[in-house]
Amino acid sequence: HRAWRGVIEEYRDRLPVSPATPVVTLLEGGTPLLPAKRLSELTGCEVYLKVEGLNPTGSFKDRGMTVAISKAVEEGAKAVICASTGNTSASAAAYAVRAGLTCAVLVPRGKIAMGKLAQALVHGARLIQVEGSFDDCLELTRRLAEEYPIALVNSINPHRLQGQKTAAFEIVDVLGDAPDVHCIPVGNAGNISAYWMGYTEYADDGLAKKRPRMLGFQASGAAPLVKGEPVAKPQTIATAIRIGNPASWRLAEAARDESGGDIQAVTDRQIAAAYKLLAQEEGVFVELASAASVAGLLQAHERGLVAPGERVVCTVTGNGLKDPDWAIAGAPAPTTIPVDAHAAAAALELA
Ligand code: F0G
Repeated sequence: HRAWRGVIEEYRDRLPVSPATPVVTLLEGGTPLLPAKRLSELTGCEVYLKVEGLNPTGSFKDRGMTVAISKAVEEGAKAVICASTGNTSASAAAYAVRAGLTCAVLVPRGKIAMGKLAQALVHGARLIQVEGSFDDCLELTRRLAEEYPIALVNSINPHRLQGQKTAAFEIVDVLGDAPDVHCIPVGNAGNISAYWMGYTEYADDGLAKKRPRMLGFQASGAAPLVKGEPVAKPQTIATAIRIGNPASWRLAEAARDESGGDIQAVTDRQIAAAYKLLAQEEGVFVELASAASVAGLLQAHERGLVAPGERVVCTVTGNGLKDPDWAIAGAPAPTTIPVDAHAAAAALELA
């Protein structure tokens, strides 16, 4: 038994690093693959949650960021930039600190969760709020990275997907094979593409006998891959996936088609219900966007797209603590009492 070393050291021979690459890590990865009892009961499947909210900055982005930032340092970068709905910026800000780089982030004003804003600020990133959408932020970021000496660390940087594919490796390493079905939220469409790369690589090298059907889920108000065209004004409560023109569009379609899977829309109502189910029946506190994978699994079950007994992994991408406003707004207001045992007993309906 030995301590987890972070995704670069754990999967070094499968990543674009050499002995000359300075490894910038917060010991990301190695996240739990948690059996989901209630979801298994509801669907008749053997359901697991890949709990990515337990990464160092609270989301799956850290897997890609360790590789992107390490390569940026290797290539001599002094500054990095990203557009973000919040998690990428939190991760970039933390890894930039680790590497001694300057970090700039562009976020859509008023549309990112408070915890994520706090993370970018506390790590000292230059945070710019743009009066526009994530898609606008990404467009600006691309232009700045072309015109100025600043390295782009969004998932259009191929090192990001390389790092993120390690989540698929971990799943196969634990289960002994790929699952039958993999459910995942889709926003900018990098992560579904990265998982498919990881599953494919393991299957090609004989480390997995099969590859899963990839089921991706977008919010219905921000579902360009379902509609087959960009969405000009994407809307959803799941701000992390409020994206109208995903950068990895083609790769996500390839993952869907090569795997015999699908990309579907789930409503905000379904997302909110899955968020509550995860918190109250599985004991797992995720952010809204993450619940799209579970909302999607329940929908796929209703539509007969998953068979009883099949092994299903749902990636839950980010930690619920990132969005305390939403959590509190959706819960009953707490009772306040004086320092008094009778009042406490009465409030708790013990007496
Ligand atoms: N879930 C969470 C919590 C996310 O933050 C994101 C993306 C996704 C799912 C979707 O993943 O983009 O690879 O399809 N967040 C990005 C960001 C856009 O800026 O943090 P994807």
